[in-house]
Amino acid sequence: MRVDRFLSNLPRFNRQQVRVLLIERRVSVDGVTVSDPHHEVREFSHVCVDDEVLQAGKPARYFMLHKPAGCVSATTDPVHPTVLDLLDEPDKGELHIAGRLDFNTTGLMLITNDGQWSRRLTQPQTKLPKVYLVETEQHIGPEYAATFKTGLYFAFENLTTQPAELALLGPTTARLSIIEGRYHQVKRMFGHFDNKVIGLHRERMGPLVLDTALAPGEYRALTNDEIRQV
Ligand code: URA
Repeated sequence: MRVDRFLSNLPRFNRQQVRVLLIERRVSVDGVTVSDPHHEVREFSHVCVDDEVLQAGKPARYFMLHKPAGCVSATTDPVHPTVLDLLDEPDKGELHIAGRLDFNTTGLMLITNDGQWSRRLTQPQTKLPKVYLVETEQHIGPEYAATFKTGLYFAFENLTTQPAELALLGPTTARLSIIEGRYHQVKRMFGHFDNKVIGLHRERMGPLVLDTALAPGEYRALTNDEIRQV
């Protein structure tokens, strides 16, 4: 929300008073003086007028988890353990997953309460690559890379996938970089060639790489530097 709206929504200031507060440079957001009425205030922002705190700001939380196989990328599930069950954190109901993985897919999973941050990471428009190690049942043909680069038509969504990069690592293993995260996208891409994906592991999402110190099922908070990179 814009800072002028945030302030004038409070019972104590009308719009004229808010204009004056901003012009007189009496408003600060996250410790920085703000005079632009469009400056953004979020639930995480610390907002003061003079030295009075008007909103303390809720802590933004960011975690990286090494998702193990056999666990659901959902906040609740009636049958199977979920990725959130692996987190020993308060207020887990406020957290959401930035980019789900299938039940048996392993690897990097990011969990946060910051919707803007997770949208930046997952929206196709931001073009952040999601990198997967793929193992298939049949040999990966030399024609796959060109087809993935051109894009594949997904009838259900009526769209063509954005260019993806495939690097062969062995006859049945490859590294695939995609910039969307459509439903079962990697499996459907290999399915185009009737080749079943038998192992899938996400190594990276945009600038964030799975920490090799994390065993499957382990997690850690992101560093400030990692949070800023997205
Ligand atoms: N693509 C898939 O098919 N499955 C995943 O878990 C992630 C990407």
